Amino acid sequence: KDTMALQKEETLAMRKRLIGQSCKLFYSEDPLKIVRARGQYLFDENGKRYLDCISNVHHVGHCHPDITKAAAAQMDLLNTNSRFLHDNRVMYADRLSATLPEKLCVFYFVNSGSEANDLALRLAQQYTQHEDVIVLDHAYHGHLMSLIDISPYKFRKLAGQKEWVHVAPLPDTYRGIYRDTHPDPGQAYADTVKDLIEDVHNKGRKISAFFAESLPSVGGQIIFPQGYSTKVAEYVRSAGGVYVADEVQTGFGRVGSHFWAFELQGEGFCPDIVTMGKPMGNGHPLACVATTAEIAGAFTANGVEYFNTFGGNPVSCAIGLEVLNVIEKEDLRGNATRVGAHLKGLLTKLQSQHQIIGDVRGVGLFVGIELVTDREQKTPATKTAAWVVKRLKEEDLICVSTDGPWESVLKFKPPMCFSMEDAELVVRCIHRILSGKLQTPLAFKLLLYV
Ligand SMILES: Cc1ncc(COP(=O)(O)O)c(C=O)c1O
Repeated sequence: KDTMALQKEETLAMRKRLIGQSCKLFYSEDPLKIVRARGQYLFDENGKRYLDCISNVHHVGHCHPDITKAAAAQMDLLNTNSRFLHDNRVMYADRLSATLPEKLCVFYFVNSGSEANDLALRLAQQYTQHEDVIVLDHAYHGHLMSLIDISPYKFRKLAGQKEWVHVAPLPDTYRGIYRDTHPDPGQAYADTVKDLIEDVHNKGRKISAFFAESLPSVGGQIIFPQGYSTKVAEYVRSAGGVYVADEVQTGFGRVGSHFWAFELQGEGFCPDIVTMGKPMGNGHPLACVATTAEIAGAFTANGVEYFNTFGGNPVSCAIGLEVLNVIEKEDLRGNATRVGAHLKGLLTKLQSQHQIIGDVRGVGLFVGIELVTDREQKTPATKTAAWVVKRLKEEDLICVSTDGPWESVLKFKPPMCFSMEDAELVVRCIHRILSGKLQTPLAFKLLLYV
């Protein structure tokens, strides 16, 4: 334990005094002070070990030694701004391009998911010369003003919907307007976008982009029905717009079977712009926009330089390259497929024992459990979800969080080194909590300490 460190109460008091109060903490009633981390584990100031089911940013595992080594070596050698020629930038772009369909061949490096989405918006509007954007209900695309405008999750609590933004229904086959029982929910939801485009045209306006996460996260860990994206892309392109896939949360192999979540929609589908961020630098601020030569060409043609001081600097790119190496070396996509399937299987079994589990959905290590007080009405069990999260933290030292419009979905987006045993432990603990049983036996709990 570091005796020079502040006591937790002091840190909390300083945070209250010095940090903007709109910046929230996990577990605000009793926040965790995490002082180190490794793999899928977080350690607090007393050495207590927490299993981390939340940190999708720390994709290949917290403080992975290969990433630290690559970062330190490059930092020791050179870090410059992006106007000097450097191998790391081009080699990294080349490696990323190998993961994407051929037509997505031009890259812009930036520092955050928000910067990536803001640039995607500019690219789409510049290329199409149209202004309007279609987004999905409950979506979140970032914290810049331009992105608050296209994020119903935020703008509904703020200034409201701008005239150039149009909201399509979330293609949620569990509780949305078309459900699993529909013969073709992909087509039915795509038709809602087609109708929206018609409305936009009737107002004398034109679509620049359809903007969506490949698997809506804030919307509640939603899996698009098959055929949805292909059809939407067809309708949007015929209106002169482009399809932007926000892969900020879902990219880099999280879904296991594919490197990008948009690929789940089949080989026939390719977005026009892909934005990426969070897992890309394993915690280092690194993000990117990938697009076609035509869209990039239109952006260049406006004659205005795009300059981003830190985006794609040699250290960021060294880290990005090493993240790709570790994903391959440690077969983290294979692990996401195997562990994710095991976790989903165990949770589905649990669903048969607990009425409160309305739905279990997910792919790879992107999994959600939707809690409902009534399976028929699908009434969100928001309070129970918060109670499960609290007890998992306090009794089992497991960090899980909630998502969805009613915060009723327990979500799992752990580091990709999450193991079979981790999955089994979490499910066992949720079962115990939902069964109304008290604390884990002491001996078992002690096993979780270092
Ligand atoms: C889907 C999605 N897009 C964009 C962003 C914005 O990324 P950042 O916080 O790195 O700016 C987020 C952040 O939560 C996100 O979840």
